Amino acid sequence: MAEAGKNQGLSGNGRIAILGAGSMGQLWAGYLATGTVTFIPRHEVSPETDQPALTYTFQPFEGPEEVVTVPYLLATAARPSLLMVTTKAGDTLDAVESNLHCISPDTPIVLFQNGMGCQQAVAERWPQRPILAASTTEGANRPAPGCTVHAGKGETWVGPLTTSATTHLAQVVTALGTSGLTVHAEQDIQRRLWEKLIINAGINAFTAILDCPNGDILTDPFYLEHIDELCDEIAKVMKGDIEKALPSVTIRERIEMTARKTARNTSSMRSDRRLGRRTEIDFINGYIARRGHELGVDVPTNQMLTNRIKQLSP
Ligand code: PAF
Repeated sequence: MAEAGKNQGLSGNGRIAILGAGSMGQLWAGYLATGTVTFIPRHEVSPETDQPALTYTFQPFEGPEEVVTVPYLLATAARPSLLMVTTKAGDTLDAVESNLHCISPDTPIVLFQNGMGCQQAVAERWPQRPILAASTTEGANRPAPGCTVHAGKGETWVGPLTTSATTHLAQVVTALGTSGLTVHAEQDIQRRLWEKLIINAGINAFTAILDCPNGDILTDPFYLEHIDELCDEIAKVMKGDIEKALPSVTIRERIEMTARKTARNTSSMRSDRRLGRRTEIDFINGYIARRGHELGVDVPTNQMLTNRIKQLSP
């Protein structure tokens, strides 16, 4: 964690609150300056009876392991200047709704979810608020309870989802950049989210069904049987959804490049399945299937993968 300091560029007290203390939330909290970052607890924290902070061991990408202590935002504390939402896609709408009472109407809210659909749902529900989405290739995991590892160095793009978010973009990028992680402003965040969606749609369900690391799907008969149809469906739905769509062959190339680069990694969906947690399938292949139905595009492969994952997970 960097030394205490006020986040340049953010209005108000410069404090950043993080909703969702999973690997991604702990990764950002581990890099943001001590004293500027708090976690929003799942349940209101009582100063008399509850732990006032979350403490964990953080292994940065470079350098020694550190013990990080991040205070919980108390109901009585001053309102933060920025809200980062790092919950699972399926929890996002409810989590934001339950915590909006401690977020001022003009405070930017940045959504860090995988997949598509939940970010748009938040922006549609609160169109007057400055809502932004982030697409990140940073990799973090928690190999043991109380221990978070920055496993893969990536980049993060942030862009506006609502009109009022546009004027906050530069200050949000500056504030997130104080972490030392690479953060870019992206006006066309919808395209960035789609580009990540493609990768997740081509890797996550296969790894969860086959229960294998990312690289092993590439030679598996089940993957080889379905990947071309899957990429055709993705290309058609993408074309209906955004302007700069990609052709099917490029989609397959990108999926396979990532599967090779992360060959020994366990995808988030395989990991959710193994831990008996709800997966994000509704926001990945499930989203593409839903959009396909709306657009009149046949999406049997996305639907099949969605159904298979739902049969396997809670
Ligand atoms: O969801 C994930 O696990 C990751 O986004 C990816 C790219 C599939 C690598 O594991």
